[in-house]
Amino acid sequence: APAAPRAADLLVWYDRHRRVLPWRALPGETPDPYRVWLSEVMLQQTTIAAVRPYYETFLARFPDIAALAAAPEEAVMSAWAGLGYYSRARNLHACAKAVAAAGRFPDTAEGLRKLPGIGAYTAGAIAAIAFDRAEAAVDGNVERVMSRLFAVEAPLPGSRPEIRRLTQGLVPAARPGDFAQALMDLGATICTPKRPACALCPWMLPCRARLLGTQETLPRKVRA
Ligand code: ADE
Repeated sequence: APAAPRAADLLVWYDRHRRVLPWRALPGETPDPYRVWLSEVMLQQTTIAAVRPYYETFLARFPDIAALAAAPEEAVMSAWAGLGYYSRARNLHACAKAVAAAGRFPDTAEGLRKLPGIGAYTAGAIAAIAFDRAEAAVDGNVERVMSRLFAVEAPLPGSRPEIRRLTQGLVPAARPGDFAQALMDLGATICTPKRPACALCPWMLPCRARLLGTQETLPRKVRA
């Protein structure tokens, strides 16, 4: 059997290959929860390339949560115009008002989950990245990475709870936010849907699918 995968090997890879993105704190910087939250909401259903210019413009118009909470709804909707899925903008605004009224951002996944428009993935991502909580952020890309790493043969969506458990079991106590973003980067650049670049993967040796030669067949999906 292959060795168990270790978070540390992914983090070493991340330190070398991390993508530089406007919402990521540089090593040693403290992430701003407002920026992390804004980026995660924009990145729901939208690509990094599409989000980038909107993120910059939006931040210039609403530099912090107080500014966003105080803005009229029309101003928020007009800054969002073109990004699509407009319920995200309405939820974002409602969220800003709730956080401004409470005087602070919830700093746990459980607390974040109660805010409008924040589901399990986004709550986990913000808790890990902004608040250093040992939470998993499992989206479709992470499901692909994990289903291959552990050779999960059961199809999605039924395998989701199992994949979530496997991911949570790997989350390190130190640098959980970097771990979450390293998984995103690995899924985007190495463990791609087609022709994954296994030879460049920090988890090549522990990857069970790679050992079995099934990496391109996973994750399996229930037929529609
Ligand atoms: N997709 C969703 N959140 C992301 C992040 N923080 N970095 C890169 N891609 C993402």
